[in-house]
Amino acid sequence: ANTENNCIVIFGASGDLTYRKLIPALYNLYKIGRLTEHFSVLGVARTELADADFRQKMRDALIKNEKASGQILEDFCSHLYYQAINTRDAKDYGKLVPRLDELHDKYCTNGNTLYYMSTPPSLYGVIPECLAAHGLNTEEQGWKRIIVEKPFGYDIKTAESLDVQIHRFFEEHQIYRIDHYLGKETVQNLLVLRFSNGFFEPLWNRNYIDYVEITGAEEIGVEQRGGYYDGSGAMRDMFQNHLLQVLAMVAMEPPAIINADSMRDEVAKVLYCLHPLSNDDVKNNLVLGQYTSAEINGERVKSYIQEEGVPADSNTETYMALRCEIDNWRWAGVPFYIRTGKRLATRVTEVVIHFKTTPHPVFSQNAPENKLIIRIQPDEGISTRFGLKKPGAGFEAKEVSMDFCYSDLATSSLLTAYERLLLDAMKGDATLFARTDAVHACWKFVQPILNYKASQGRVYEYEAGSWGPTEADKLIAKTGRVWRKPSGSRGKK
Ligand code: BG6
Repeated sequence: ANTENNCIVIFGASGDLTYRKLIPALYNLYKIGRLTEHFSVLGVARTELADADFRQKMRDALIKNEKASGQILEDFCSHLYYQAINTRDAKDYGKLVPRLDELHDKYCTNGNTLYYMSTPPSLYGVIPECLAAHGLNTEEQGWKRIIVEKPFGYDIKTAESLDVQIHRFFEEHQIYRIDHYLGKETVQNLLVLRFSNGFFEPLWNRNYIDYVEITGAEEIGVEQRGGYYDGSGAMRDMFQNHLLQVLAMVAMEPPAIINADSMRDEVAKVLYCLHPLSNDDVKNNLVLGQYTSAEINGERVKSYIQEEGVPADSNTETYMALRCEIDNWRWAGVPFYIRTGKRLATRVTEVVIHFKTTPHPVFSQNAPENKLIIRIQPDEGISTRFGLKKPGAGFEAKEVSMDFCYSDLATSSLLTAYERLLLDAMKGDATLFARTDAVHACWKFVQPILNYKASQGRVYEYEAGSWGPTEADKLIAKTGRVWRKPSGSRGKK
């Protein structure tokens, strides 16, 4: 039997993620023939629902969001099942045993089970224990894997204790910590760009790179997630996980081979090399911000504290910018400027490698900078910037670019992040999932920032629709540099 054949048990099946991301991802995989008929999905949540009700809800969501229709939609929905349990009550998990037996028999899935914890984080420690109470974690019959959604903890202490709790019942090889940034094509492309070409790697170090800029900008505000976001902030929501993972892809050493262990060894190694932030570093190299109300395209948008679920005196940051360094031979002395925020001027995620200028200016004008821009989203692509002669008299250099657009290469079967990662988890490939040591390294690095926040560290205001607080410009200007202000759409980068 194919080892990918399995039953996917989604805890938190009535939640947002299930119908927005998970079911659509599975549906699309099914539609393109990447799932065999040998799979089933068992939705689990507290609300009483019959299989038919759950199917109807998922069918509606697929029709609305994925434009799904026809026989393929009906066939897919016939694989969906539902079981109501009280997810905090170990006894109740007994109800899953006969359901799973029946589904494994029906779909010939040999006991292979993928648990997906799409629940509030307070259940991440509870679910493994309750599963174990009924032997649902043992691999005697088929594999058992468990996917954990972020956040993996709230700070270093809670992250460690969460790990201890899960490790009591699942071994590390069974645990898949999902960071959807690792599922993005262009984040993976960073590895291919770096390690399958001979000419980037010799330049990819402190001798040739002046600084690295990583931006994760969002145009949207906190939307309906004010309650969650206020306890999290940009640091926990984007920086500690997604952006540090991107940094790791930019900065890691080449693994000898691409497999889960050697890749993740290198990721953890570089994250442990992040220069620990002292109190002074935090004061001098960190800027936190919160958006205020503004008029954008004739419409007044709310300030952060006016958002639903956000207390009026909230000090939570919706923006952060940090200058950090990596203490190893490759990167010593090269600053990494990283910023992320909500309600910024545009939606763009990109990495910019700024190369050093020529050692001696031959022409009178300032030579254009040499840059490599890795555009993660939108308009995925890679662009190099350098100087060439401006036509006409003299030797004036002008910045030109060479662009590669991912859409030129992509076919319609390009997988979205959740599709790719779910498929990998079913195949047992953990390469693109965060390993415990890397998660630990990230928390260890950000803990001084959390301490600063907890001590009511200064949060500057910035207008919604701007590029963040002016203090962030001053931060990068200290070394005579400026943040790039990319536009959100191609052609105007
Ligand atoms: C999520 C955060 O993990 O990532 C959100 O919780 C954020 O706040 C989102 O909007 C960004 O993801 P993407 O794929 O749109 O860049």
